[in-house]
Amino acid sequence: MFRFVGAVRLKRVLAVLGAVAGVLAVAVGGGVFWVWRAAEVSTVGAEAFDTELRVPPVAPSRVRADGTRVFDLRMQAGSTEFRPGAATSTWGFNGGYLGPTLRARRGERVEVNVRNGLDEPSTVHWHGMHLPAAMDGGPHQPVPAGGAWTPSWTVNQPAATLWYHPHPHGGTEQHVQRGLAGMFLVDDDATQRLALPHSYGADDLPLIVQDVKFRGAQFDHGHAMFRDVGFLGTRTMVNGTLSPYRRVDAELVRLRLLNASAARVYAFGFADNRDIALVGTDGGLLSHPETVTRVPLSPGERAEVVVRMRPGETAVLRSYPPDGGGGFWGRRFSGGDDCFDVLQLRAARQLRPAAPLPATLTDPELPDARNAVRKRDFDLAMATINGRGMDMSRVDHTIVRGTTELWTVRNQDGMPHNFHVHDVQFRVVDMNGAPPLPTLRGPKDTVFLPAGATATLALRFDGPPDPDHPYMYHCHLLYHEDLGMMGQFVVVEPGQQAGAPPYSHHGH
Ligand code: C2O
Ligand code: CU
Ligand code: CU
Repeated sequence: MFRFVGAVRLKRVLAVLGAVAGVLAVAVGGGVFWVWRAAEVSTVGAEAFDTELRVPPVAPSRVRADGTRVFDLRMQAGSTEFRPGAATSTWGFNGGYLGPTLRARRGERVEVNVRNGLDEPSTVHWHGMHLPAAMDGGPHQPVPAGGAWTPSWTVNQPAATLWYHPHPHGGTEQHVQRGLAGMFLVDDDATQRLALPHSYGADDLPLIVQDVKFRGAQFDHGHAMFRDVGFLGTRTMVNGTLSPYRRVDAELVRLRLLNASAARVYAFGFADNRDIALVGTDGGLLSHPETVTRVPLSPGERAEVVVRMRPGETAVLRSYPPDGGGGFWGRRFSGGDDCFDVLQLRAARQLRPAAPLPATLTDPELPDARNAVRKRDFDLAMATINGRGMDMSRVDHTIVRGTTELWTVRNQDGMPHNFHVHDVQFRVVDMNGAPPLPTLRGPKDTVFLPAGATATLALRFDGPPDPDHPYMYHCHLLYHEDLGMMGQFVVVEPGQQAGAPPYSHHGH
């Protein structure tokens, strides 16, 4: 009897508990579903394109008697009106936001007077540049608040669209997001003679693409819920211009696209899906133009494309949902469902006729995988490479100068990562075992790795040898980089040992 009553009561209690759990599950599920739905971003059709695209000025330089081209770059805090009447606190080089375009020729010696006008230390890294490790501007070359740093090197690489940005250990995302970034264009004689658009700011446009979010007039750099990739913004900006348009008066227009965003991956194309001639990747021109309709770019990557305009038309550069792999959850929260209207090009009624694009561009200087003397593996898993986080006093790899290596990079996560190597331009030998697509056939310093992807790279390390100063490799999703998804290598003469990185001498 007692047992029977007890069983009835138990059933009732269970039923009530079940109902409560059900209501909770529906509430939590509904909440999660709401967050999932709200995570999708699209500005397609929503941009007014009412602000003329700003073009970063070419940095003035002077040439000393010994032939060295000298630039001045000062990091400073300021404010910028992205919209009239709304002043946003920003950082910039020689100005309120972003920096001037540095430009030098292959063979030239350059020197940059970097001054830090901020009230905290930072660094300036020359992304994509082949140069001595002590000039690289990574975390080992901090410039103290109020201090200066004067790196100097000889430019010795093909014409390319490179860039510069801070690289302070643990603080890169913030420093770049506040506005510290600029382009560094390398020119060379061979490609200068090619029939490619090259009037800077007219038919040759630098496009620094960033995603941003505002709270009132100020930037909101907060990471939203479930964003394991880091910061994702709600709209895009080009060269610090919101809702930009640009008038063009030539039939062919070259766009130098730089993804200077913290974590956002773009898949650029045009709203009408017109053909795009891809002419260059991170480290320079391809052997010949490749016709594509989409150009995927993960943080840090660049592409040079040429687009054909018809008189009087407008064309909208759009970013389509990028293919970052992963399930529906990972895709949504890493921006894989997002679309942006990025820039409107307005063609004049009369367009300057352009010569057809050359059938061949250059002979890209790409390492040959058959020359590889050594293989290394890099396994990427949230905030670690090969299970370890960045340690500035640990040299992870010692590489002999003048040798070619094969690196296998595996993304073991359900979210996207990418992989950037300082000092070199590498060849993508294969992606998931298949030959690289056109967008991965040129010289690269950063490669996108969708969830679960594996890439094989051929890299040649030409030094100069310096056992004491390391170069970095890392995920260029800046939150991941800041978390320590980074390692270090030194380039040495045969038989030489790695020294102790300077950071450890200073005992920080
Ligand atoms: Cu663009 Cu190590 O960075
Ligand atoms: Cu770099
Ligand atoms: Cu990453």
